[in-house]
Amino acid sequence: MSRFLSGSNLRARTLQPADELWDRRLGVRTFGYHPADGAHDSGQWRAHYIPSSYRDVFRVLRAANLSKDDIVTDLGCGLGRVVFAASWLGARRAVGVELIPWLAEAAERNRRESRLAGRDIRIVTGDAAAHSLGDTTLLYMFHAFGEGVLSRVIEGAAADRERAALGAPAPLPPLRIAYVNPVHEVVLQRSGWMRRVAELPPARQWFSNADHYATAIWESTP
Ligand SMILES: C[S@@+](CC[C@H](N)C(=O)[O-])C[C@H]1O[C@@H](n2cnc3c(N)ncnc32)[C@H](O)[C@@H]1O
Repeated sequence: MSRFLSGSNLRARTLQPADELWDRRLGVRTFGYHPADGAHDSGQWRAHYIPSSYRDVFRVLRAANLSKDDIVTDLGCGLGRVVFAASWLGARRAVGVELIPWLAEAAERNRRESRLAGRDIRIVTGDAAAHSLGDTTLLYMFHAFGEGVLSRVIEGAAADRERAALGAPAPLPPLRIAYVNPVHEVVLQRSGWMRRVAELPPARQWFSNADHYATAIWESTP
């Protein structure tokens, strides 16, 4: 038993056994922690890293109608759990963007060593606000940053999509956004080009001490 549970993050891995089993099944290590930075009500606040439970991630991605045509981007991917879950469910490409270098490096190591290494999975080290979303069809965010960064993400997405549409042979597919713990949803409301299409209540607790959050699903208007 002690060998089975060897390594770090022992407490979380013991209290979230289904997530430990999913990590093992996919051949990745996504338990970990990195502290937040800044005041929570400041626009530049950055969230701490703790992973979502796989069960919640699968539920949200299915509610957002993930399909094999999707390019899924997780802004603030940490060690990549959402990225690997999206690829496992069949996304055409799964992309994770992470600001903290050691998290991004460990996510990239996960990608290389995972059972999904042959799939189209990309880990990018950098700021979510600077990442191009021109080809993303499903954007996943788990309350990772403050209102200022989110505003830049949404303004950037509009500009990236306009540019992508200019060179595209057919109209772009809509952009869906799955926003977990949607604290700054007002940014999407006032964007003028996104509408809220669904809301998921927090999942019920199930053999795990993981936290669960409501999720809002948004979609771009034609
Ligand atoms: C709450 S964790 C979510 C991790 C993962 N998406 C999940 O659901 O399992 C938020 C992550 O966003 C990252 N982050 C915060 N601000 C960021 C930014 N501006 N650009 C990229 N990543 C950021 C944090 O370092 C942290 O790893």
